[in-house]
Amino acid sequence: MASTPAQLVLQTLQYRSTISGYSSALFKAVKEMYSFLSLSSFPSYPPPTPPPPLAIGHHISTYPVNDHAITRYTMLYTSRHRKYHSRLSESISYPVTGVRCRDAQTRPLRACLGRNLKPCMEDEKPIKLPESYAMNGGDGTCSYAQNSSYQRGAVDGAQELIKEGVAAKLDIKQLSSSSSLNRFCIADFGCSTGPNTLLAVQVILEAVEQKFKSEKLTAQLPEFQVFFNDHILNDFNTLFQSLPPERRYRAAGVAGSFYRRVLPKASLHFAFSSSSLCWISELPEEILDSNSPAWNKGRIHYTGARKEVSEAYALQYAKDLDAFLHARAEELVGGGLMALLIPAVPNVMISSETTIGTEIDLLGSCLMDMAKMGSFSEAKVDSFNLPLYFPPIEELEALIEANTSFSLERMEIMNNPPKHVAMPSVRHRTLFLRACFEGLLENHFGSHIMDELFKRYSKKVAESSFTMNPDNDKSIFMLVLLKRKSESPETDSP
Ligand SMILES: C[S@@+](CC[C@H](N)C(=O)[O-])C[C@H]1O[C@@H](n2cnc3c(N)ncnc32)[C@H](O)[C@@H]1O
Repeated sequence: MASTPAQLVLQTLQYRSTISGYSSALFKAVKEMYSFLSLSSFPSYPPPTPPPPLAIGHHISTYPVNDHAITRYTMLYTSRHRKYHSRLSESISYPVTGVRCRDAQTRPLRACLGRNLKPCMEDEKPIKLPESYAMNGGDGTCSYAQNSSYQRGAVDGAQELIKEGVAAKLDIKQLSSSSSLNRFCIADFGCSTGPNTLLAVQVILEAVEQKFKSEKLTAQLPEFQVFFNDHILNDFNTLFQSLPPERRYRAAGVAGSFYRRVLPKASLHFAFSSSSLCWISELPEEILDSNSPAWNKGRIHYTGARKEVSEAYALQYAKDLDAFLHARAEELVGGGLMALLIPAVPNVMISSETTIGTEIDLLGSCLMDMAKMGSFSEAKVDSFNLPLYFPPIEELEALIEANTSFSLERMEIMNNPPKHVAMPSVRHRTLFLRACFEGLLENHFGSHIMDELFKRYSKKVAESSFTMNPDNDKSIFMLVLLKRKSESPETDSP
């Protein structure tokens, strides 16, 4: 009797499983297929006789190790309704003369399943970060606008430092000498949807106004222009709807990555960024490469991972920060100021000891739990990583000082409210993470798992003796105040 497509898929999985010694992962995959297809006769373990050698959509990569070949193959099985769609990756070692992928073998099955069989070759591309992503928009329960009290604490904590910095370091004469100062431009890089960006802008504007007053230049007070920058997917509508009607500045949105130049050269007088310079521009390739020692299997971040993983993140961060400083150096006028509030970790800490590390670890463990329960494959978790890096203070300082376009005017640990004050309950802590990471998670795992994922996360946080303990919260913010050097220092000399 001819086999149905479903049976063919099963036979193929079983056949493959005999090659690799019928590993538990393959066994689980076969079992899942049976249960999804409501087939009652789940085969015995191991299968009595190998079924015919059929291959389904799969990708085999082979590389030599001594006289053996290591083969990594990935199989895809998918349902007609796309309800069940998963990949299964397996590495096996066998003599070089062993099994080979023959394209012809896939044809019978492709013919049976038709369009519903998605070739694995397409699916096996390394999963990279989307070009643009954003915090949760709107002002609903899970929005960033409603769940950014911790980040607001950083802006609040920086108010005095910004006022002092502007009073001491903003040189109005120097600024006026490089251009007629009838317009003072401020930009917030990584503004999100508010309300924190609106507070930051107000603080900077008032500090500059105060500086003009203190120098008895009130009559020359310029017009203020504020640029709000974020990724193109940021919910700029919510931000612009919440602009204060009585504001004393013109507002404009500037969409695009701040790791490139987004404003005209020498057009900016004050650059600001808060809670944003921990987001790296892309994931290091090696953490997604199963052949690399930096492959981040079973984790979604570098905390608790092999040192190669955190080194890869650190390298990407260094490249990104350099690109950020380079772009801002082009945009700022000589004498222009830049205040950065950067999430970091103390020098003596390893990031797994900071609360943010353990929070991300908890989230990763929830994803692994769901993978083990069959919601998606473990490979799906392996290919997901959060693009976040928290530099130790000394590393941050060295990176900043490497850029010669700026003078470092001030750098210190901020006194912002700790997490247990800014977010006292488990619910706050859960929504804080959800507002920031949901977009990226949805993009990778689908929106249907979000409620369950964060329910599990919330439970783990509540049960964790570590996460909610204030003594364990070692996350810090660094305030960095930089001044753009003039292009040609020799013209400044008397
Ligand atoms: C945690 S939010 C901080 C928002 C706001 N500054 C605050 O203090 O509440 C980080 C923001 O940085 C943005 N971001 C991250 N990488 C970016 C990039 N390369 N270019 C522009 N925005 C970026 C994110 O989209 C997000 O809106």
